[in-house]
Amino acid sequence: MDAGQLLKELEPTVEENLNRHLGVAKEWMPHEYVPWSAGRNFALLDGEPWSVEQSTLSPTARTALEVNLLTEDNLPSYHREVERAFGTESAWGTWVNRWTAEEGRHAFCIRDYLLVTRGVNPDELERARMETMETGYDSGDKPLLNVCAYVSFQELATRVSHRNTGRYTEDPVADKLLTRVAMDENLHMVFYRNIVSAALELAPNDTMRAITDEVKSFQMPGNIIPGFRRKSVQIAKAGIYDLRIHHDDVVLPLLRQWKVFELEGLDAEGEQARSELAETLQALDAEASRFVQKRDEAAAKKATRSED
Ligand SMILES: [Fe+2]
Ligand SMILES: [Fe+2]
Repeated sequence: MDAGQLLKELEPTVEENLNRHLGVAKEWMPHEYVPWSAGRNFALLDGEPWSVEQSTLSPTARTALEVNLLTEDNLPSYHREVERAFGTESAWGTWVNRWTAEEGRHAFCIRDYLLVTRGVNPDELERARMETMETGYDSGDKPLLNVCAYVSFQELATRVSHRNTGRYTEDPVADKLLTRVAMDENLHMVFYRNIVSAALELAPNDTMRAITDEVKSFQMPGNIIPGFRRKSVQIAKAGIYDLRIHHDDVVLPLLRQWKVFELEGLDAEGEQARSELAETLQALDAEASRFVQKRDEAAAKKATRSED
């Protein structure tokens, strides 16, 4: 089935899910989550320049918040990508704009929070934002089914990442804010997940291939952020987002929901994609276990050293 036909055949599902989304998404006000009274001027307006001891956040909490914010900041690129795949017509186009509008507030409120609480170095943050957006996000002309599979995983990954970051900060204000943002991401995930479910009925073999390819090649959308590798290791070591979480809380729940391993009637290519998926999962699971074991060993070593 070509892309145009798929768009047309999936349109009723998109419309139904758009309406469901509009019915369940509660309006919320990003400004209500920002502790404005903590804010004060910076140097240019005769205030105090930023310095690190003003932040009550731990270095890892700062890194996680900064990565989450820069990821959200790159929305114009994501908008471009989904609009290219979904188009501007019909319920698809309505969804693209609604989704973009909802995503927009995520960066606003996280930035407001970080600036008024002096949580991160604002100069570094601005430079990193410029660099991230100037690089832009490019999925490389992913086909429609791949985009739908990717965004399902990505929305769930961002939900988990915001939620765990909020908890990790040990700041009830940040936790409340990120919990609210995570609820948006959850509804986005449900929308895309349902489109993929419909695609599995409509074009099971092609959809299976798309899911497999997206699990195999999955990268966080923020992977173009300056220093992302180092930062993501820091985030993984803290247990905010690591391979174990990715496998257990992001990839598996979606595959289970889509019932990919119970699906019947696949052709040879569909079966091939599914067995590749099973192999990929096994490898991911093994890698996740190795990572957790290494992290536990390092923590145990550190504990013995501090007892000495
Ligand atoms: Fe978001
Ligand atoms: Fe989202």
